[in-house]
Amino acid sequence: MSFALRYFSGTGNTAWLADRLKEALQRRGEAVSTGFIGRDDAVQIPDGPLTLIVCFPIYALDAPPFVQEWARRLPAGEGRAAVLVRSPGDPFFDGGTTRTMRRLLEERDWRVRVERMIVMPPNVFLRVSDDLAALLLAAARRRIAILADDIVGDKEHLENTGIFTHYCSRIFNLLLARHGFRFGRDLRANERCTRCGLCVRECPSHTITMTAEGIRFGDRCTVCLRCVARCPVKAISSRFYNWFSVENYDLPALDSTGPTGKEPQNWFERRYRKYLERS
Ligand SMILES: Cc1cc2nc3c(=O)[nH]c(=O)nc-3n(C[C@H](O)[C@H](O)[C@H](O)COP(=O)(O)O)c2cc1C
Repeated sequence: MSFALRYFSGTGNTAWLADRLKEALQRRGEAVSTGFIGRDDAVQIPDGPLTLIVCFPIYALDAPPFVQEWARRLPAGEGRAAVLVRSPGDPFFDGGTTRTMRRLLEERDWRVRVERMIVMPPNVFLRVSDDLAALLLAAARRRIAILADDIVGDKEHLENTGIFTHYCSRIFNLLLARHGFRFGRDLRANERCTRCGLCVRECPSHTITMTAEGIRFGDRCTVCLRCVARCPVKAISSRFYNWFSVENYDLPALDSTGPTGKEPQNWFERRYRKYLERS
């Protein structure tokens, strides 16, 4: 069986997860092609027998809007199997929902067979300690191994999120859709900007443009933070909303050092404990 793995990643968590999942499948003798869900208008999925794996972060308890839009443009699945992997920044509210993505894929005649939540260090509001981030990465590795076994073993594993999460996601999504642009409108590239154009090319919402005066951030921002995280000279920041995005984690370093043995310290971090025990 061959696998087409497609993912979106704003700040690097889902990219890390997709790479580990690809390695895990390859270790099991499977062929995996990867692709990024970005600005391409035509969605490239090979013909023939394959399983589609879609990995995405969770925004406002659901898949990011441009990932949903990508799913709407998928070629017909003709009954082929699909796997949905979400990477929320915390396990609360079921770590968001895959309901919307499942429905969109089913509308395109893909049969969702496996769904998994793999919690990664959060990239908004609160930066967790490196101790907790390393514990989350170790738990992610264990979950990825189980996921790879489920995928290869043709298992069915659907994660039905509660109705409460579903309705909260509808409300939070509305807020994000109505107010997300404010974050984008407030973005600025400072004097370190070299006008390399990477942010323009990589914005999944097509809202960043290069002008004679410099980089212009438009009104269609969906707050994925990709421009902020990917800028090679770290020139992009939001003036008023800077508190929203947290500093990146050094995932390769945390992954190779492994957990420090320190338990989560504060009230917020202790709320991850149940998830860690289950993983
Ligand atoms: C706009 C926005 C909204 C988010 N909303 C949620 C959320 O509702 N629940 C959650 O657990 N994490 C939420 N997160 C955190 C991300 O889902 C999480 O950190 C994810 O692993 C980031 O993946 P990435 O680095 O591949 O972009 C949000 C992040 C952003 C940028």
